[in-house]
Formats: sequence, C-alpha cells, structure tokens
Amino acid sequence: MPPFEDALKNTAGEINSRISDLLPAPEGPESRVIEAMRYAMEAGGKRLRPFLIVESGRLFGVEQEKMYRVAVALECVHTFSLIHDDLPCMDDDDMRRGRPTTHKAFDEATAVLAGDALLSFAFELVSSDRTHQDPFVRCELVTKLAQSVGAHGMIGGQMIDLSMQTLPQDIPTITRLQRLKTGALIAFACESGAIMGRAARDARHALEAYAHDLGLAFQIADDILDVEGDAEELGKAAQKDDGAGKATFISVLGLERAKAQAQMLADQAKRHLVMFDERADLLREAAEFVVSRRN
Ligand code: IPE
Ligand code: IPE
Ligand code: MG
Ligand code: MG
Ligand code: MG
Repeated sequence: MPPFEDALKNTAGEINSRISDLLPAPEGPESRVIEAMRYAMEAGGKRLRPFLIVESGRLFGVEQEKMYRVAVALECVHTFSLIHDDLPCMDDDDMRRGRPTTHKAFDEATAVLAGDALLSFAFELVSSDRTHQDPFVRCELVTKLAQSVGAHGMIGGQMIDLSMQTLPQDIPTITRLQRLKTGALIAFACESGAIMGRAARDARHALEAYAHDLGLAFQIADDILDVEGDAEELGKAAQKDDGAGKATFISVLGLERAKAQAQMLADQAKRHLVMFDERADLLREAAEFVVSRRN
C-alpha cells in the first residue's frame, strides 16, 4: 500500500484531470461564468473529499471511474461553498487556494453565478447513468447530496456561523455549527462509497460514525490553522477568525484543549473502522492527516 501522501496525491491527479474533462467548455456568450467555474475548480486544493469517496468506495469494490464522477461532483459543491464563503457578505477574503478569490479575479455577480452553476452541475453529474447503472442508487446519492448541502447541512452550518453573535457560544451550538458547515459534506464523501457499493447496514453505520468524528476534527484543525498557520502555506488568509468574532472550539476551550479535542476525535474516528481491518488503513491515516496537516 502506498504511503498516505502518495495516495492522496494520486487521487488529486486523477480528479484534476477529470475536472478538466467533465466541466463544460467556455463557449458562447455565457462563457464568463464557465471560466469562473473552471478558475475556482482548477486552483487545486487538497482534494480530501474525493479521496474519502475513493477509499470508502474501494471497501465495497465500487468501480473507480464511477467514484471519480461522484468525487468531481462533491468537489464542485465544496468549491461552490468556498466561492460563496469568501464573498464580501460572508468572510470577505481575497485569497483562496493560493490565488485571488473568484470574486476578486472576476466580480461578485460572476462569483455568485459560478457557485450556483457548480452546485447545479454537481447534480447533473451524479444523476447521469454513467455515474451508476442503478437508478435507485443514483436517486439515493442525489437525495443524500441535496441533504448534505441544504438548510440542515452545509448551508445551515454557514447560517449558524454567521449568526453566532445572537446564539449561545457553548459547545453544543459550536458542535452543531461545525458538524453542519463542514461535517455534512465530509459525511457525504464517506457514505457515498457505501451507497454505490450497496453496503450492508453495519458497514454504513461504521462509516457514518467515522465521518462524524472526522468532520469535527477537520474543522477544529481548520480553526487551529487560522491561529497558527501562515497565509503563504495555507493559500488563504490566516489570523482572521478571532477579529471577525468567529465562534470556534478555540474561542471556547482555548488552543491547547482544542488541539487535544481534535486528536481525541481523530483517534475515535479510527476506532470506528475496526470491522474493515487493514483495508481501511488509508482511511485511518486520513484521520491522522486531518489533524496534523499544515494547510
Ligand atoms: C476549507 O476546506 C474549508 C473548510 C470546510 C474548513 P479544505 O481545507 O478542504 O480546502 P481545500 O479544498 O483543500 O482548498
Ligand atoms: C467554511 O469555513 C466552511 C464552508 C462551508 C465553506 P471557514 O470559513 O472556516 O473556511 P475557510 O477557513 O475560509 O477555508
Ligand atoms: Mg466561513
Ligand atoms: Mg472562510
Ligand atoms: Mg477557517
């Protein structure tokens, strides 16, 4: 088995070439929105969510090309969330994935439209019969993806993030915020492989439990990197959350206890994978990566 970093890099390479092939070509008088979609998608990023799809699908023998299509779809949704997250009406950021944010490189209206179009394109990809031969499986993927994006998913989490001044700044509220804004898409990544592979209930539950802890650990690590990281390495601004009044595990627990919490969640995530024995080693390493990463 290749070391984790090689495996992640390999998946990122496969995803990058499929992004380039699958996204619409910029043509016609509407080409500007497609250029903005491609600009945001081709900027890179870790491609961790695609990796989670590929590795969870592998547990159930899902064909790789099919997983890549769902992986590109999820990366479209994730990129849509980042484009909108960076807008002046939200976090007002100028840099993302080492480049000017989409609204800086284009303009705000184009960034809003490019995000909308990426969300819509994700569903076009998932619902195609090239993604899965069984219409019931495709329908379940569409439903799960819709839920993970929606008002009780990523978008709900972003709403809580922006409303924290008027909400209790306590662990249950912040846990819900993190679980929705970041955890929901990570959960879709881990569960979609099981859906495509028609996994048994106990295997699905194990992956759901893994994703739950992984998603929380991932966002705590993002908040720690905002405090300790530097913009060059992160490819986005650092030291912003505190000044912007963001509620995080750090604002409630302090830096050291937040780090301990993230590590505890990563360890707990790994323990949920016991039924998959060594076949889930890369997913175990992914949990360690999530809390040790530098960007
Ligand atoms: C950043 O996600 C936004 C959060 C949900 C914390 P990533 O850290 O996965 O960003 P990319 O895709 O690697 O750029
Ligand atoms: C955003 O969280 C999560 C999304 C749903 C996009 P952050 O606002 O902390 O993400 P970064 O730090 O800008 O990447
Ligand atoms: Mg934000
Ligand atoms: Mg942000
Ligand atoms: Mg952040």
